[in-house]
Amino acid sequence: MERTFVALKPDSVKRGLMGKILSRFEDKGYKIIAMKLTNVSLELAEKHYAEHVGKPFYAPLLEYITSGPVLAMILEGENAILGVRHIVGKTNPDEADVGSIRADFCTVKEYNAVHASDCPESAKREMALWFSENEICDNYKTMLEIVMGA
Ligand code: CMP
Repeated sequence: MERTFVALKPDSVKRGLMGKILSRFEDKGYKIIAMKLTNVSLELAEKHYAEHVGKPFYAPLLEYITSGPVLAMILEGENAILGVRHIVGKTNPDEADVGSIRADFCTVKEYNAVHASDCPESAKREMALWFSENEICDNYKTMLEIVMGA
């Protein structure tokens, strides 16, 4: 099983889209093993988006991600990193597949609703950045796991 970090950005929270977006991940079958609605400090934002330092969109990105609460979570499932990125869609909503979150709910890449880790290294780094070990609830089975005897 693979784990990935996902954050519903301030536009998702402010637009009341958390339930709709979450249901996409739950319906697919990903297991939520950590979740919190949290304000993002500038320090956390800088660490999270460190790879984008120097890019033209870096400063507005920090301003945006610290502008309101973010729903941060860890999802677990088979090939979760790739699968979640597929459900989320391409960065630019105009290029995202129809049916993906960004195609269905967003119009511009600057406010693209969701962040999802792009590779195993990023997932590991981002999970550790946003969650402590005791915030991870991997001590329960989903109904699917119970029925399948997993
Ligand atoms: P995210 O997946 O959170 O990773 C970096 C973010 O930068 C991206 O989503 C976009 O929200 C944001 N961004 C803003 N402008 C650009 C751009 N021109 N290219 C890539 N990402 C951008």
